Amino acid sequence: MTKPASEQFNQPNASFDNRLRPTRFDDFVGQEKVRERLLLAVEAARGRGEALDHVLLSGPPGLGKTTLCYILAQAMGVQVHATSGPVIDKPSDLAGMLTSINPGDILFIDEIHRLQTTVEEYLYSAMEDFVLDIMIDQGPNARSIRLDLPRFTLVGATTRSGLLSAPLRSRFSINARLDYYTPEELAKIVTRSAGILEVGIDGPGALEIARRSRGTARIANNLLRRVRDYAQVRAGGRIDAAVADSALAMEGIDRTGLDEMDKRILSCICEDFGGGPVGLNTIAVSVGEEAGTIEDVYEPYLIQEGYLARTPRGREATPLAFDALGLRGGGRSRQPTLGI
Ligand SMILES: Nc1ncnc2c1ncn2[C@@H]1O[C@H](COP(=O)(O)OP(=O)(O)OP(=O)(O)O)[C@@H](O)[C@H]1O
Ligand SMILES: [Mg+2]
Repeated sequence: MTKPASEQFNQPNASFDNRLRPTRFDDFVGQEKVRERLLLAVEAARGRGEALDHVLLSGPPGLGKTTLCYILAQAMGVQVHATSGPVIDKPSDLAGMLTSINPGDILFIDEIHRLQTTVEEYLYSAMEDFVLDIMIDQGPNARSIRLDLPRFTLVGATTRSGLLSAPLRSRFSINARLDYYTPEELAKIVTRSAGILEVGIDGPGALEIARRSRGTARIANNLLRRVRDYAQVRAGGRIDAAVADSALAMEGIDRTGLDEMDKRILSCICEDFGGGPVGLNTIAVSVGEEAGTIEDVYEPYLIQEGYLARTPRGREATPLAFDALGLRGGGRSRQPTLGI
């Protein structure tokens, strides 16, 4: 199935992401609490001349987890060795990586919730005691050897922190959850990115893009890229509110900034279940997405923006959701056919 247009704007694009990625805490907009805690941890570790404590970064896609990992490395003056949960398929892969890094370096495991259980168990002693007990050979020759590891920092990133096991989570001494950005923060990000891309933009133009970016830095940058093309061809290369509005309308991004899946979820609750309450699993079946993904990735934004409420009996849509879908009144259009 091809992705609906508006969801495509949160797809990572390595070269574009890297170009616009801030490399210092000073350029990292928003997330004040997380920033403050990380800055403090960096200063303390540097003061003691030690490796930074292990850090878990969680939050929906495109909010800056990878960015923060590289900023941490830069602030500590160390290298990042990046990998991802599904790529490490046996403990010896982990041993290979951990024995070849320098003291203080960062091992970045993206999508850490997708680590295999066997690998995860090896990680416990690596994180805690900086040793790996690896089994070599099989049958009667099988024996375990202990590898001493350099003091390293594990930075884990996850969009699905709910899937992380308790023992793994408890081994991170810094647990930072990123939140959606406000339109004002996103406008700052857009303005900074426009500077890097060398395109003129005014305050209202940046805010117009920001408002439609679903609280997400990556979406804001990707929308800016589309608006820049439009401005270049039709508006003499400068972005103001009217240019941003026309360009985004042409891309099918409406004023709410909600993406296709958001709308499918809301429309399921509002139209199929008269506004709810309706159970998460029922919604998952009707929109064709995993319940956990809806809960961790889509709902937080819908709840934060007041479209959706979680109640003991299930999810309920608010009048704002009916408005966003162009439905008035919130009346029941169809009786529920599926149980909660
Ligand atoms: N606080 C911020 N200030 C400025 N730019 C940001 C900020 N956070 C993210 N960005 C921009 O958004 C882009 C996406 O961020 P990043 O790749 O770090 O997200 P992520 O949380 O790792 O997403 P995913 O879960 O998809 O891996 C980056 O290229 C960066 O330019
Ligand atoms: Mg990332």
